[in-house]
Amino acid sequence: MTATEPQGTLEQVLTDDERLAELSAEQLRQLVGLVEHDPATDPFPVSGWDALVWICGNATQTAHFFQSAFGMELVAYSGPETGNRDSRAYVLRSGAARFVVTGAWSPDSPLADHHRRHGDGIADIALTVPDVDRCVTHAAAQGATVLEAPHDVSDEHGTVRLAAIATYGDTRHTLVDRSRYTGPYLPGYVARTSSHQRRPGAPRRLFQAIDHVVGNVELGAMDRWVEFYRRVMGFTDMAEFIGEDIATDYSALMSKVVANGNHRVKFPLNEPAAGRKRSQIDEYLEFYGGPGAQHVALATGDILATVDAMVAEGVEFLPTPDSYYEDPELRARIGTVRVPVEELQRRGILVDRDEDGYLLQVFTRPTGDRPTVFFELIERHGSLGFGKGNFKALFEAIEREQERRGNL
Ligand SMILES: [Fe+2]
Repeated sequence: MTATEPQGTLEQVLTDDERLAELSAEQLRQLVGLVEHDPATDPFPVSGWDALVWICGNATQTAHFFQSAFGMELVAYSGPETGNRDSRAYVLRSGAARFVVTGAWSPDSPLADHHRRHGDGIADIALTVPDVDRCVTHAAAQGATVLEAPHDVSDEHGTVRLAAIATYGDTRHTLVDRSRYTGPYLPGYVARTSSHQRRPGAPRRLFQAIDHVVGNVELGAMDRWVEFYRRVMGFTDMAEFIGEDIATDYSALMSKVVANGNHRVKFPLNEPAAGRKRSQIDEYLEFYGGPGAQHVALATGDILATVDAMVAEGVEFLPTPDSYYEDPELRARIGTVRVPVEELQRRGILVDRDEDGYLLQVFTRPTGDRPTVFFELIERHGSLGFGKGNFKALFEAIEREQERRGNL
């Protein structure tokens, strides 16, 4: 960013992570649908994502996967060598997105229990907030479970203020104010890089930011969690898809979407709906051992290059039937997009369109051993949707996979 660029209101509210990643407000408006928002009127102001904290069976190798297959960069580490006798943790970056991959070092680590119950998954959707105490006071008054009261942690790089509240299942939201901190992640972590090198010709980054994180909750619990995000965290409704919209013959789900004031943080919440057979949400709930984060959507400015780079590293995407691209009705709805439809078809990329524009999206297979968490790549062109028009096409593809696993 240079001084000659126009300084709109949005420029001033870029997070430090976004500035560090050299992203502009205009890019973020396109990438994740960032909107202007006045935090002064917000009972629980959230600036954006701080980190997605994963608990994995083998954090050391998962960190390698996120570097090699997802093009992320290792920036910090905590482990026995740094005085952490419980676990290893690797901090990875891509643009403004931060993943923290943790795994048990000690057999007595609570992370080992978490992993036995849930498999690889997201334990903490950490959010950046400008005022931890104000958020927790509001959350507690609204009946939220406060897992960690506001407290400071400090080292030679400064002080971070932290607190944590519970959300669905065993998932938590750590609230982070790192405005007085210059270290690589948190006290207890040291800066660390790795010898991993990008393939020649691979894009500098495969994604720039986190767009949304979807939560799967039990039948009948969706409205309760939507209400939680509204009442406790001041989120507002973005879109609503119910029942028929996304039902296939065999399975169905209900989904509602809430977002924070500036729309950086978007949480679609799914619950299973009655179908003739077991839905993908039921399968998730069984294998995750309860509610949890189902998928992470990663925002990219060039989904074709990202898919190509990931496929070259062995990432598996859900196939999309040729009929999706050849169906005249669907083709008319797709309309004109930035690349020929054949380029999308070769990669199985889906298109959805609404009154604001269109989006391109594609979904990976589950990336761990259990049929639980997976990723989405999303390239937005004006549309602030989530691919509602693709749900049916997508679910039919997912069900073919469920059938192969004998879980339909
Ligand atoms: Fe999504």
